[in-house]
Amino acid sequence: MDKYLVYGNPIKQSRSPVIHQAFAKQTEQNISYQKLQPEIDGFKEAVNAFIALGGKGANVTAPFKEQALEMCHHLSQRAQQAGAVNTLSFINNEIYGDNTDGLGLVQDLLRHGVKLTNAKVLILGAGGAVKGVILPLLEQQLGALVIANRTVSKAQALCQQFGSDKMQGCGFDDIANIDFDVIINATSASLTGEQPPISDELISDHTVCYDMVYGKSLTPFLMWAERLGAKSVIDGLGMLVGQAAESFNIWRKVMPEVEQVLLDLRADINKSD
Ligand code: ATR
Repeated sequence: MDKYLVYGNPIKQSRSPVIHQAFAKQTEQNISYQKLQPEIDGFKEAVNAFIALGGKGANVTAPFKEQALEMCHHLSQRAQQAGAVNTLSFINNEIYGDNTDGLGLVQDLLRHGVKLTNAKVLILGAGGAVKGVILPLLEQQLGALVIANRTVSKAQALCQQFGSDKMQGCGFDDIANIDFDVIINATSASLTGEQPPISDELISDHTVCYDMVYGKSLTPFLMWAERLGAKSVIDGLGMLVGQAAESFNIWRKVMPEVEQVLLDLRADINKSD
C-alpha cells in the first residue's frame, strides 16, 4: 500500500486524511494517508524518515511550506513563483515539489460559475496564502488583479515579484471606488473573527466574495458581504478539497470528483461543535 501523509504544526485540525481517503475510495486506489506534527525545527528530519520508510508523497501545511521548498530537487513553476510547496512527491530518491493551492482556488471559483476571464479581481492580504494563488489566477486571463494589504509595501513587493502589467499593489484606502467582480479575502483576519477595514461601497449585486477561510458559520467578511447584497458569498472549503484533488492527481494520475467529498465534509463540519 502506497503511503502518504500531511505535515503541519499544529495538525490536529487537518481534514486532509479524510479527504484523501475519500478520493482513494472513489477512484479505487489502495493508499494510506496520515497526519504528522513534527517539531518546528524537525520538519526535514521527519520528511527524510518518511522517505526511508518508503513514503510516496506528502502534503505540507503551515508553517512548513517554505522549508519543504528548500528540500526539493525539482520544483514546478507554480511552486517556484509561490515560494512555497504544499505537495511533495518522492520518486527514485529525489524530491519533487508543487503548489496546488492556487489551482484549488481557481477551480472552486469556476465550479461556482464565477467568470474569471477579463474579470477585475481584488485580493485582500499579501501573505503566504496570496503568493500561492497569484500565478494560477493570472493564467485565467484576468482583466486586473489588485492586491490590497494593511502593510502596503508587501502588496507592492508581490506585484514587483510577479511583474505582470495586470497587477497593482495598494492599501485598503485606495480601493474604495473601484468596481470589482470578485473579492478574495486572503488575510488571516477571519481566523481571529476580524474583518479587513474596507469600504461598503466595494459590494454591489454583481460582486462575488470569497474567503479562503471556512467554518461552520460564515466568516465576518462573508457576513458583511452578504448583508450588503453581494451576488454570492463562498468560503474556502472548496479550495481545500480542490487543492487536495490536484495533489491526488499528481501522485495517482487520476483526478477525483470533488463534489460528493465536499458535500460530506460540509455535513461533517455542520455537525461538529
Ligand atoms: P498567510 O500565510 O495565511 O497568508 P501571513 O503570511 O502571516 O499568513 O499573512 C497574513 C495576512 O493577513 C497579511 O496580509 C496580513 O497583513 P499585514 O501584511 O499587514 O500583516 C493580513 N492580516 C492579518 N490580520 C489582519 C487584520 N486584522 N486586518 C487586515 N489584515 C490582516
